[in-house]
Amino acid sequence: MCGIVGYIGQQDSKEILLRGLEKLEYRGYDSAGIAAINEKGVHIFKEKGRIAVLRESVDASVVATTGIGHTRWATHGVPSRVNAHPHQSTSGRFTLVHNGVIENYSILKREYLQNVTLLSDTDTEVVVQVIETFVNKGLEVEEAFRQTLSILKGSYAIGLIDEQNPDLIYVAKNKSPLLVGLGDGSFNVIASDAMAMLQVTDQFVELMDKEMVFVSRESVTIKNLKGEVIERAPYKAELDASDIEKGTYPHYMLKEIDEQPLVTRKIIQKYQDENGSLTIDSNIISAVNDADRIYIVAAGTSYHAGLLGKQFIESWTKIPVEVHVASEFSYNMPILSANPLFIFITQSGETADSRAVLVQVKELGYKALTITNVQGSTLSREADYTLLLHAGPEIAVASTKAYTAQLSVLAILAAVAGQGKGLNLEFDLVKELGIVANAMEVLCDQKEEMEAIAREYLSTTRNCFFIGRTVDYYVGLEGALKLKEISYIQAEGFAGGELKHGTIALIENGTPIIALATQEHVNLSIRGNVKEVVARGANPCIITMKGLEEEDDRFVLPPVHEALSPLVSVIPLQLISYYAALHRGCDVDKPRNLAKSVTVE
Ligand code: F6R
Repeated sequence: MCGIVGYIGQQDSKEILLRGLEKLEYRGYDSAGIAAINEKGVHIFKEKGRIAVLRESVDASVVATTGIGHTRWATHGVPSRVNAHPHQSTSGRFTLVHNGVIENYSILKREYLQNVTLLSDTDTEVVVQVIETFVNKGLEVEEAFRQTLSILKGSYAIGLIDEQNPDLIYVAKNKSPLLVGLGDGSFNVIASDAMAMLQVTDQFVELMDKEMVFVSRESVTIKNLKGEVIERAPYKAELDASDIEKGTYPHYMLKEIDEQPLVTRKIIQKYQDENGSLTIDSNIISAVNDADRIYIVAAGTSYHAGLLGKQFIESWTKIPVEVHVASEFSYNMPILSANPLFIFITQSGETADSRAVLVQVKELGYKALTITNVQGSTLSREADYTLLLHAGPEIAVASTKAYTAQLSVLAILAAVAGQGKGLNLEFDLVKELGIVANAMEVLCDQKEEMEAIAREYLSTTRNCFFIGRTVDYYVGLEGALKLKEISYIQAEGFAGGELKHGTIALIENGTPIIALATQEHVNLSIRGNVKEVVARGANPCIITMKGLEEEDDRFVLPPVHEALSPLVSVIPLQLISYYAALHRGCDVDKPRNLAKSVTVE
């Protein structure tokens, strides 16, 4: 949700910033801009639209070895050139990029900027204008920066340059992610995500909330808001540059769908001990087994994974589980049990809605486990325990491999915790997950069939319903989310038995219904629900599991253990959504109005 970069060194900064922004484009792509500073002053290039549009507008003849950049997901003010970052103070002395939301921007405006004319509708511009106002009152720039930060409410990752000092970037962070990348002594960088600056370094320093950093070519000085210097060692980003390239794939989403068998195998391996048994840190298992109730909190796709996590945990450990949408939980907290454990599921580890709940439950003194794909992410750092997904960077906005990775890790967690209570599974989870990985591979090889289904059912429809019972219902919710977010088809998932209580009124001649039938004990009832909609004109596409198939079924999944069927049944839904979006000419990897990492509440 917005991404920022900065470079200060010996080379021209523009190309490094643009390449960095291209890697951050998943965080927002409404508009983008860079500011580069040289002896002639600050040069700003900004445009509405993608980084590619910005790139076209950048004047190659400007050479500047210090610069900052931004890619935007609009919160305050429509996507436009004026609202695009960087924003400048009235005199043009200060230029700033910002990711986050300044909640008290209108108060600041009233209090400090009565005589300042703001050019944009953004909350960000207020910050740069307040800094200049403080400097105009006689404060040194560092002190003006510090005092401004101390009156900001909300979230921010900030990069600021001062026309009168091209040898420094002022940086600050609160709640929004930000890293400083260390160079070879002749340059340093900043970025919302290490991926953006892997092009120049793999050494990064984490920043904590309410820290400011002064970044020059040769040094990086971290201070807290009291001005005290903080020492922190760098870490090596364990990212392979090839992980973040599309390679020969037309879209990241397709690449990431295809990576699912590999990720599943990697997870099995990462959670196995030397004897091949599944293993998880004993502190985490004790925390699970000591809990009288588990509260899973997540958003979007991760919430859908949570619904299935509940099935695994309740079935295999007998501990009751509640699953909550993070954005609701904060404002509508249920009565908690005496000894709860909170599990946060989050691909990015940065989702503001989930983090708000984590902060709340930590204040209440409860223990929290984060299941995330991003080591060192905010939700990982702030929870008591972390389990990693090992899925590799997920770049397409629509989540695919993170979802199946979440299911695998939740299954392993439930199985190992159950074992800890003497509740052994009746099947070998390692072997069955291996079968799942093979089945995923078979499905990924059936793209032509998925494309045909998408063409047949979804090329012109305005809506589509996904139905299923028990776990198939939850996978249907995820299928519907995938379809709507990338193809813009109105898609909803329903419990098969619930249609007749209202939604069936929407069924018209030809309405596509994608029905999942992978569970033996509800096979007959979901097929009954399909008949009900067919009687009203629906066009059914039944996806079933080998062994349960009937004559008119459209697609048969390779057989896997019933409990693990969501890991495979979701793959046709991901692929069908992909092809539906493609057929409709949508931007698969960067759907409208969305961003990958939702760091605003
Ligand atoms: C959908 C999707 C989103 C995310 C949601 C939570 O494809 O990606 O619904 O799942 O924004 O994000 P994380 O998992 O990063 O907390």
